[in-house]
Amino acid sequence: MGAMLAAPVLRFVLYPLYTKQRGSKWSKVGLVDHLPPIGSPPVRKDVTFRQLDGWREVVTTESVYVQRLPNGKCLVLSSICPHLGCNVSWQASSDRFFCPCHGSVFNSQGKHISGPAPRGMDPLPNEAESGELLVHFEYFRANVPNREELS
Ligand code: FES
Repeated sequence: MGAMLAAPVLRFVLYPLYTKQRGSKWSKVGLVDHLPPIGSPPVRKDVTFRQLDGWREVVTTESVYVQRLPNGKCLVLSSICPHLGCNVSWQASSDRFFCPCHGSVFNSQGKHISGPAPRGMDPLPNEAESGELLVHFEYFRANVPNREELS
């Protein structure tokens, strides 16, 4: 009898441990009209999002690089290097992204040029809503050639 009564309570208490992270990873980046014009180099922006991990609410800030495209959309790249997760930085003088950890190099569209990274930089889903650019931040498995979303 006690076990029958305890089962629903345990299920309720342990539920967060068995579910994937929840929460919105859509973040505001800024007004599209305030981004540099089409053809400009990528600009770095910080995005902040909240996730529920078990019973904890986690607030995370990550960096992305944003460019306006001729088709009116935006290309948003994660700044996390697909090799082992360092943050890449844009070097305007050479028109390339560089990773400071092991020297991977990417072009302005995130295409892999050289270095140990097994793929290009990871593009992120994005959309404009009432003139505001929203980005859905995602994490991807490091050091694999094909993009695999983690959470
Ligand atoms: S983490 Fe970027 S090249 Fe290794």
